[in-house]
Amino acid sequence: MNLAYEQEDSLQTDLLPKASAANIERILRNLNHFNSTPEFGTTRVLFTEPEVAARNYIKQEMQQLGLSIREDAAGNIFGTYEGTEPVLAPIWTGSHIDTVLNAGMFDGMSGVVAGLESIRLLEEAQLRPRRSIVVVVYTSEEPTRFGLGCLGSRALAGKLGAEEAKKLKDKDGKSLYEVLQSLDFPVDHFDEVPVRRGDVKAAVELHIDQTGELEREGKTLGIVRTICAPSVYDFKVTGRQSHAGGTSMARRRDALMASAEMALAAEELTKASLGPDDYATATVGRMNVIPGAVNVIPGEVDFSLDVRDASFAHKKELTQKILGKFEEIAAKRQVKLTGKEYNDDHPMPCSEEIQAKLTAAAEELGIPYMKTISGAFHDSMLVGEFAPVGMLFVPSRDGISHSPQEWTDFEDIAAGTDVLARALYALADE
Ligand code: GLV
Ligand code: MN
Ligand code: MN
Repeated sequence: MNLAYEQEDSLQTDLLPKASAANIERILRNLNHFNSTPEFGTTRVLFTEPEVAARNYIKQEMQQLGLSIREDAAGNIFGTYEGTEPVLAPIWTGSHIDTVLNAGMFDGMSGVVAGLESIRLLEEAQLRPRRSIVVVVYTSEEPTRFGLGCLGSRALAGKLGAEEAKKLKDKDGKSLYEVLQSLDFPVDHFDEVPVRRGDVKAAVELHIDQTGELEREGKTLGIVRTICAPSVYDFKVTGRQSHAGGTSMARRRDALMASAEMALAAEELTKASLGPDDYATATVGRMNVIPGAVNVIPGEVDFSLDVRDASFAHKKELTQKILGKFEEIAAKRQVKLTGKEYNDDHPMPCSEEIQAKLTAAAEELGIPYMKTISGAFHDSMLVGEFAPVGMLFVPSRDGISHSPQEWTDFEDIAAGTDVLARALYALADE
């Protein structure tokens, strides 16, 4: 460790003004106007009209900060604050601006706004580090439209190319590739999207805590050690559609009861096997019952399964147990079970060095923090495939997220931004 540099960095960042909660609130509220469901929370699904408008708005904010803007074939947006030695590998910060259905106004957006506000602070203090700092808006972290999450960061990690983008279809049968093309993204340059290891020095993402842990522990910041990763499946259970009054209990092959037993089994098995970090989750978040009538025994059910873990090996073991149990239930209830895997991602450990930078900044500013793991996945999970990553959490009220009730105080995002800006400068001046 070069102590002289460390000291110099902290002297430099003493010049930084404090982040403005009012400016953070202004941008978040402006973003929140781009919303398909203003009557119930915020819905901004990838490449719908409000999402495209929100992208344009963020680009305007980037322009006002004097950032140079670039977009890639996967729709990722990059706003660059140029360093004094722009040939050096840059530092990235950012998150996403798409949402799940009926979400809140903080998940993802806070990280983009904290990145912009960090740049405003550096500008105001006239601090130009050696490396450039890039504010990134990753395309569709949420799986809402295409069933697969982290589309932009997945493409940057070389795990989603033109061919995969052609195969990914939304519920209307439109492919991601077609949609990108129709919006004039340079799809012919898909092969230029992946980032080689070494091309990005480090990436730091601020995000809201989605567990409630920070609030429960009375901490303003969470410094993330590991990001849990999901395995996502779609199952179809086919039984026999028949008459609710005429089919005795013994003669039924009820697709819904079989699916319900499978969902409960996933819950049971996961509770009994939380893994090395004492944290694993299994969720059946969607179930579609066909034909869906009071007096008809359901003949077909589609349902999703999302299993997450901080350990890849444990996730494998747990999903094998769950899938084995599903097959046992299907055989016992004489229904047919088919399944499709969407993704089986790897948990991502956060860089020790970035954790140390975030810790030093929090301590310097006297902001209460704790180490934590992320149960939610984030773009950093995929960015970590090609660069060291760090994540900084700010509290969510009651830990509620993916809900209109999601709330984070703007002052807390400002405190997180103060730490983020210092860590970004320290990393960028190396
Ligand atoms: C992303 O929002 C996730 O589902 O963790
Ligand atoms: Mn989310
Ligand atoms: Mn998010």
